[in-house]
Amino acid sequence: MKKILVSLSLVLIMFRTYADEGMWLPMLLGQQVYNDMVKKGLKLKPEQLYSINNASLKDAIVIFGGGCTGEIVSNQGLIFTNHHCGYGAIAKASSVENNYLRDGFWAADKSKEIQTSLSVQFLNRIEDVTQKIEAGLGSLTGAERNAKMQQIQSDLIKEATGGNEFKRAVVASMFKGNQYFLYVYDVHKDIRFVGTPPESIGKYGGDTDNWEWPRHTGDFSVFRVYTTKDGQPANYDVANVPMTPKYFLPVSIKPLKDGDYSMIYGYPGSTNRYEISDGVKLSTDINNPSLVKLRDMRLKYMYAEMIKDPAVKLQLASSYAGIANYWKFFDGETKQLLKYDVYGNKKKFENEFNNWAKGKAEYENIVADYAKNYEAWRPYAKHRQYLNEGIMGSPLLAFAGSWMSLENALNKKDAKAEDIEKAVKAAERARANFLENENKKSDQKILAHALSLFMTDVDPAQQPKEFYTDLFKSSSIEENPFKKYAADVFENTMAFDDAKWKAFTAKPTVEALQNDPAYKTATAFINNYNKNYASKFAAFNSKNNELGKAYLKGIMEMDPVKAKMMYPDANFTMRVSYGNVKSYYPKDAVKYDIVCTMKGVMDKYVKDDYEFDLPQKFIDLYNAKDFGRYADPNYKDLVVNFITTNDITGGNSGSPVINGKGELIGLAFDGNYEALSHKLAFDKDLNRTICVDVRYVLWCIEKLGGAKHIVDELNVVSK
Ligand code: ARG
Repeated sequence: MKKILVSLSLVLIMFRTYADEGMWLPMLLGQQVYNDMVKKGLKLKPEQLYSINNASLKDAIVIFGGGCTGEIVSNQGLIFTNHHCGYGAIAKASSVENNYLRDGFWAADKSKEIQTSLSVQFLNRIEDVTQKIEAGLGSLTGAERNAKMQQIQSDLIKEATGGNEFKRAVVASMFKGNQYFLYVYDVHKDIRFVGTPPESIGKYGGDTDNWEWPRHTGDFSVFRVYTTKDGQPANYDVANVPMTPKYFLPVSIKPLKDGDYSMIYGYPGSTNRYEISDGVKLSTDINNPSLVKLRDMRLKYMYAEMIKDPAVKLQLASSYAGIANYWKFFDGETKQLLKYDVYGNKKKFENEFNNWAKGKAEYENIVADYAKNYEAWRPYAKHRQYLNEGIMGSPLLAFAGSWMSLENALNKKDAKAEDIEKAVKAAERARANFLENENKKSDQKILAHALSLFMTDVDPAQQPKEFYTDLFKSSSIEENPFKKYAADVFENTMAFDDAKWKAFTAKPTVEALQNDPAYKTATAFINNYNKNYASKFAAFNSKNNELGKAYLKGIMEMDPVKAKMMYPDANFTMRVSYGNVKSYYPKDAVKYDIVCTMKGVMDKYVKDDYEFDLPQKFIDLYNAKDFGRYADPNYKDLVVNFITTNDITGGNSGSPVINGKGELIGLAFDGNYEALSHKLAFDKDLNRTICVDVRYVLWCIEKLGGAKHIVDELNVVSK
């Protein structure tokens, strides 16, 4: 951390009223929040949590890959993160012969650690740029304002990174655009794969147990950051050395009990806690059910191929897991939003707001304007979901759709040869990537089914009519027109045909593109949307942003003292959440304990099952009660997972769970089903974070994996 420029006076942090809700900005905790942390059990000084000039806890926290968190746990750049965060890299490093995903892997020494294409980012500095942005925007509105905003942000980013590929900058909007921070990161690109338990441990329980407590998943994997000899971030090079970090977390193997302090540092991706009631209704009525239905369809076809062939399983595993994760999430979100009447509760609050806003020109129409805005967009929402999750849910069509930039380059007046060449090169890279991940069998079925669902479910007035007329012309009704059509597309597109592709890239023309059946199909839907509905969506969004900013400002004014929890919504910037290890009551008469143990893992075991199988060695070690120093004296067993009251969301995956002394006790990896409405409304009684116990992590490395040398790198504390 070099230098930080934040004007504290501008910060809109207020009192918190509810237990454990809040994703706080660690550099701006404020006395109130810090005092509350201490009351809950924190033993560290504020400057140990976050310091500009000295090494502190926050220096051990990284953005892992594109959307996860990791933590540094040794003085040699060792990183712990979730198994599901390392999943893509593990699958990529695997082959049918050396199947690390299935069998696990531990590098015997550093020379055996495996190169990946992952990156890891350390937060370098933060600057409050609200005034710069406000000054630049002046009194602009609408599209002009959006364009200017983009310009200002890209200038700020350029200035901050100076084009250095090992720096990344981003402007983050806080409190719905009432404040802006510039974040600058150091990007490390030599990240090596150190080890993982087998998938039967790392993803134990699969999608059946995903988003659920009780839970028995060993959701962790291990990587390492390498730098140049003088400690600089770099691309992969054999000559690079393990990073000497500014700070790393000690690891605690002390037993846990109900009520223990727990703090989670990391990068929560997105929440929308001040979403308006109409937004909740749009989710439960249209957006979520559409997404769930379409993903359900896609997953079914992918799964059918994956269980047949280990090579296909490796190929599709990562993409399948990502689709399945949010398929179950959005299904559960709908159920919980309805169960707890989140819509009704938001309505009640909006009525209070309206009473307060009466006669205040700035605020009195916000809620009504929101309703109008949602009403205007609502008829098109399903169309948008079916395009994104259905039609573009076919990997072939998503790839073919990306050729539109090629068509744009070709169509440009006085198109420069070098620009066309650039676009062709980009398409070639995209093709290589596409083919590597493509399973034609499942994709062809997805395409046929998506085309049919779009026709049956989306408002006929909004469909690309000519496309469907042509489709029915080209095949008879008996032979299932959608299947026949999809088969033709797969047969004739240049995407799979090296000779056709080569001929096209040697002499790219607009006609050739437009004659390709995959491109034709993709653009029929994309152009229809772009021409008729994209501007409606843009207007809906920009109006929502405008209203959101004013609404939040109003809420703060309405009750400045006990205003709701005034932490900004999650936006993939570093946050700290604090709470306790705590049991809960999921339903009448049922109490869920704070931990799950190895006994529970064994109870769920089903030999050769896709989700609940176990390695024989695991069973043997359990039967021998060989838990080493990691057994919990209270449970006389190995604790596998535990729960806390922390407020986290997707993006926090892999985040360190830290005790009152600043020691690592686990890794956050999931949320519980009863609180899946958490993006839109935090439930103070039911919300729990599910964590893998670090004692189980160490046991899996040392006893199950036989990689004690990795445990020896850590600073393990037992007192
Ligand atoms: N629900 C977890 C999260 O979003 C991901 C768990 C991955 N496991 C799975 N079975 N898909 O962080």
